[in-house]
Amino acid sequence: MSEVREAVRSRYAGIAKQITVIPAEDQAVGCCQADGPDCGCSGSYSVEDLESIGLSESVSLGCGNPTMLVQLEAGQVVLDLGSGAGLDVLLSAKRVGPGGHAYGVDMTDEMLALANANREKADIHNATFLKGTIENVPLPDASVDVVISNCVINLAEDKGAVIKEAFRVLRPGGLFAVADMVELDPLDERLKKQLDSWAGCISGTIPIDQYRAALLDAGFTTPDFNVHATQSIPGMAGQVGSAYITAGKP
Ligand SMILES: C[S@@+](CC[C@H](N)C(=O)[O-])C[C@H]1O[C@@H](n2cnc3c(N)ncnc32)[C@H](O)[C@@H]1O
Repeated sequence: MSEVREAVRSRYAGIAKQITVIPAEDQAVGCCQADGPDCGCSGSYSVEDLESIGLSESVSLGCGNPTMLVQLEAGQVVLDLGSGAGLDVLLSAKRVGPGGHAYGVDMTDEMLALANANREKADIHNATFLKGTIENVPLPDASVDVVISNCVINLAEDKGAVIKEAFRVLRPGGLFAVADMVELDPLDERLKKQLDSWAGCISGTIPIDQYRAALLDAGFTTPDFNVHATQSIPGMAGQVGSAYITAGKP
């Protein structure tokens, strides 16, 4: 395992151990960091949705709510890249109903255990958490209607490979609808080399133009970016933002 990937895995293994199945009110986590800033995700999950799966918002380590980006239909298959504690998978499973299915892929055993505990607690049977990497998704070609992800693709060393995997597993006409961090102003070179900052969803960010090019290169059409929160880095040059990103597979 590469140094970057191990830094990411070990950070999220540690966070998973801190989060209980029923998080305490004061155990707020967000934007990829247990002690991190609010990157625009607060309030993006409705109380009704969370109650429907017996969870509180505090299990989100994301930077938005990708399930808001797409009107899921009964019977669809959804894949969440880097599913963490499982919030977006469980919400998607509810929406696609018993005839549909929601998959989450995550490489961190501790997160998979937490997600499975949350699934059992919610008594949801059409959701599956798979161990794997988002660069090599353990699902067949053209098997998914919608790929979602929440604050994960920035953590990958090869974003192009992840985006190509999303394209591969999507059916023709499928949708890519993710929340992710992007680089808005070039980050200080010192920061780019810090593993902690990479695992904290800052240093691995890429500019929107580069992200768009990777989507087009994979074969996606109509890539769209909507930055909904920005974050400067104290004492360092640069700025990152939380973006909603959509694109279609022709
Ligand atoms: C910032 S957390 C986001 C979790 C979840 N999407 C959410 O919104 O709460 C990142 C998650 O992605 C997983 N992850 C990061 N890089 C990955 C990779 N290359 N392959 C599979 N999982 C990965 C981590 O284990 C972690 O659970």
